[in-house]
Amino acid sequence: MAATTTIRSIDRDDPDPAVVDEAAQVLRAGGLVAFATETVYGLGADATNAEAVARIFAAKGRPSINPLIVHVDSVAMGMQCVRNWTVAPGLLAEQFWPGPLTLVLPRSSAIPDVVTAGLDTVGIRIPGLAVARALIARLGRPIAAPSANRASGISPTLARHVLKDLDGRIDMLLDSGPTTYGLESTVLDLSSFPLRMLRPGAISSEEIEQAIAPLRLAPRAESSTSDLPVSPGLMPVHYAPRTRAVRAAAGDLSGLRWPGRSALLVFGTHDLPPVPESVYRYDCPTPDLAGKALYALLHACDDLNLDLIVVVPPPDRPEWLAIRDRLERATVPL
Ligand code: TXA
Ligand code: MG
Repeated sequence: MAATTTIRSIDRDDPDPAVVDEAAQVLRAGGLVAFATETVYGLGADATNAEAVARIFAAKGRPSINPLIVHVDSVAMGMQCVRNWTVAPGLLAEQFWPGPLTLVLPRSSAIPDVVTAGLDTVGIRIPGLAVARALIARLGRPIAAPSANRASGISPTLARHVLKDLDGRIDMLLDSGPTTYGLESTVLDLSSFPLRMLRPGAISSEEIEQAIAPLRLAPRAESSTSDLPVSPGLMPVHYAPRTRAVRAAAGDLSGLRWPGRSALLVFGTHDLPPVPESVYRYDCPTPDLAGKALYALLHACDDLNLDLIVVVPPPDRPEWLAIRDRLERATVPL
């Protein structure tokens, strides 16, 4: 395990080639480098090096049954990771890559077992930020990268969040400031019919169906927490802060006994009963703002050592799907 983590600042849109080079050398030697993507920070290793990828699981404390996403810098590199590239991935890649959409496809022999947790499929995407693509291009190989946090912790949207969890456990951190979306990519299973969304994200099912029409997505299960996960990483409790976090409808707040130090996170607009002045209150009125702020708010609540986080979830509307999904995993019902 790495003893010191080297930190370098690097522009996300205009990355310094010397720093990219240094990071690519670390990866080539089998090391771990955390870097920004447009969604959250990723913890990268050379996806073709099984020993390096095993270090990701060790550094995160990630269960070995949870497969990693493989990041590529071009469709051509993506095609080398999969067995068959057909019409649907072609249409989706053309429209949404680089961007926050991960496509799960039958995997090729270029990708070792450890990356996909032994599954016969692999999730791939081209990340939106130039810094991430430059790193892949310099390495000349795909980069396996989960979110750069300890397993079951809150995903990092700032370099500081990465350090909190992984300082001394990884070789290098490239600090490019805040990420763009703040929520992980949409994960789409194209490996069998019907096509299925495994994890909601910035790209909505409506946008996906428009791109692949007349193909449709399988209807989503009522609650993604109810049945066995199709996607091994989609555990019911995930992204959870250390602080006790409950979700409650606006109307249920009136009877609540607030402990000493609490925070109230409000998603969407609601009529709220009065809450004590001592409660820290944050409002996230739109899905965009909520996506950018959610993980940073949860990190901040943990840093403040609060006694309770109360979340008022947004309305059950498509534009809030990804936020509702993450909140359901980060909180328990009141
Ligand atoms: O935005 C993102 O996707 C970020 C950045 C770094 O790219 N990555 C990320 O990785 O969120 P991670 O490991 O935290 O989440 C990956 C999700 C997990 O739920 C995993 O189970 C699923 O993708 N996944 C990966 N490969 C899969 C596969 N072959 N079949 C089904 N699910 C897969
Ligand atoms: Mg994650």
